[in-house]
Amino acid sequence: MTTEEEKRLAAEAAAMLPEPGMVVGLGTGSTVAYLLPALAARRLDIRCVATSPATAQAAEALGLELEPFETLQRLDLTIDGADQVDPNGWLVKGGGGAHTREKIVAGASDRFVVVVSSNKLVAALQPPVPLELLEFGIAATLRALGDTRLRDAPRTPDDGVLADFWGPLDELERAADRLSATPGVVEHGLCRPEMVSEVLIGTAAGVQRRHVS
Ligand code: A5P
Repeated sequence: MTTEEEKRLAAEAAAMLPEPGMVVGLGTGSTVAYLLPALAARRLDIRCVATSPATAQAAEALGLELEPFETLQRLDLTIDGADQVDPNGWLVKGGGGAHTREKIVAGASDRFVVVVSSNKLVAALQPPVPLELLEFGIAATLRALGDTRLRDAPRTPDDGVLADFWGPLDELERAADRLSATPGVVEHGLCRPEMVSEVLIGTAAGVQRRHVS
């Protein structure tokens, strides 16, 4: 089975999770691209929050009802992809640069379901970790971070600068704390298992479900 088929399998399984009346967070990326039509085809009475302009545009074109995320305080469920998943449910997100909004939406959700192809499963997370940085003071921020390269990519929708942290990840708690504590870092792409409810993995043998927290 190809990676694309695995992504589709996981995403289509996740599309069956929303129930009428729910507020659902829609992630970003090529796996979520399979989720959107499958969810729209169910014609449920749901409201959605998009984590990027690309997802908003695709969801709208499919007739999914979008809700702004300025006044909503919580969501029932968010479904999103990941770049890497370790055996404990730690994630790296942000390959597409959308991790800040993705983490805000996931963090406000009662349930966060991650959809991946099997090649996203790793024994241990590897650098790089995507970062969104403020431009103000960026040279000082990069110096404080060390091991960080600016990404050749457009600004984020929130005017952030994308970069990648290539430093060691052998102690994930410490790395996440350090990235969060560095002034000028808007958000990093490490997600703690506490944020993740479940991982759906597309495999040749079907969808594997891994409960995380
Ligand atoms: C977007 O910034 C990312 O966090 C994506 O969710 C992640 O990169 C997974 O993307 P794919 O589904 O395209 O692999």
